[in-house]
Amino acid sequence: MALTLPPIVQREDPEEVPEIPDSGSLPELPMVVTPPVPTAQPMTAPRLRRALSPETFGLPENFPGREDLRLRDGHGRALTDLRLSVTDRCNYRCVYCRTGSEGAQFTELPIAHYLRMLRIFVSLGVEKVRLTGGEPLLRHGLLDLIQEIARLRPAFSSAPLDIAITSNGHLLAAMAKDLKRAGLNRITVSMDAVDAETFSRITRIPNSFERVRDGIRAAQDAGLGPVKVNCVLLRGFNDSQIEAFAEFSRREQVIVRFIEFMPLEEGRSWSPQMVVPMREILNRLSAVRPLVAMPANHASETARRFTFDDGVGEIGIIAPVSEAFCGQCSRVRITSDGKLRTCLFSQQDHDLIGLMLRGATDDEMISWIRRVVQRKEARHHIGEPGFLKPSRSMVHIGG
Ligand code: 5AD
Ligand code: SF4
Repeated sequence: MALTLPPIVQREDPEEVPEIPDSGSLPELPMVVTPPVPTAQPMTAPRLRRALSPETFGLPENFPGREDLRLRDGHGRALTDLRLSVTDRCNYRCVYCRTGSEGAQFTELPIAHYLRMLRIFVSLGVEKVRLTGGEPLLRHGLLDLIQEIARLRPAFSSAPLDIAITSNGHLLAAMAKDLKRAGLNRITVSMDAVDAETFSRITRIPNSFERVRDGIRAAQDAGLGPVKVNCVLLRGFNDSQIEAFAEFSRREQVIVRFIEFMPLEEGRSWSPQMVVPMREILNRLSAVRPLVAMPANHASETARRFTFDDGVGEIGIIAPVSEAFCGQCSRVRITSDGKLRTCLFSQQDHDLIGLMLRGATDDEMISWIRRVVQRKEARHHIGEPGFLKPSRSMVHIGG
């Protein structure tokens, strides 16, 4: 099924969660009654510190049995990459992600609860924390959270903890400097077209292209570069933008990453025909200028990296459908309501917050986490007969 672009809906204040009528271009779903989303207030420093004591880790390299303490799944994969969703609210309603008629569906936890979970995971070997949503920049207390995460030290590595965020970029221009000051290292911005009108039709927000582009520039100026720009390609929808994105990467000095569309949307629009496979993207890009492959930054890198023959611009291709990379997966996820997910495509969440609120000690939480991740899925089954959609869609998991 081909997606058609909906008309641009004018809206007054995209800072808040908008009410936008469904464009009617995607299949109708029954309305979901949205529970109220409690918004945590920014925390005071002493409360944060209590949530975080002790703040730092770091096992000496000669610590006996050091590597055995690392968190690993049942397939032997070390889990070093934690994605934490801090809200499932979003001020955009990208047509391939959201129906346009559903809102936030899950609660948000106080920042202190996320911090306790993070501290435990960092003590188990997490080296990279990515904050996601929904749209994480909507979350009150985000800067406090980043500031406190920046105090943590990885348990098994002397390198500092890597703190990243994935954002739609709409609020970024005003926040970039503060994010950097709080301790954020890197930012990934989602941008699915460089043609302003197409972009507005995708996000359903007028003038969104200019906002996001200015956000990217502000992030580069604030020292959060090189910014990564994620583009989800859908056939017959925005695949006409491939060459223009190559130019955008070269001109704006950003890393553009094309992502194959996965069946993670709120609606039911995914089909294999809509996926633009890596091979095709590479052929199209090579016609712009000859491509040169770049080495992976690390073993669990999801993107295949390329530059052009003159070394200007960087393109990543993330091909979870045509060239799945599950074998190297190092990720676990915590949802905004405090559930542990071992895979984007899990059929089930694990109730970490429930355990914590029942008064579990750190040691009890660690044993529980080790047991849960033992059963982390080996891989996804996209495109196979009997594939089951995951129990949550992307906006309610965190990218
Ligand atoms: N398939 C692939 N990527 C997706 N994203 C959102 N939905 C999907 C999907 N169904 C992307 C967003 C963002 C990141 C968090 O994931 O565009 O860049
Ligand atoms: Fe929001 Fe990202 Fe989904 Fe767009 S793709 S609606 S920005 S969560």
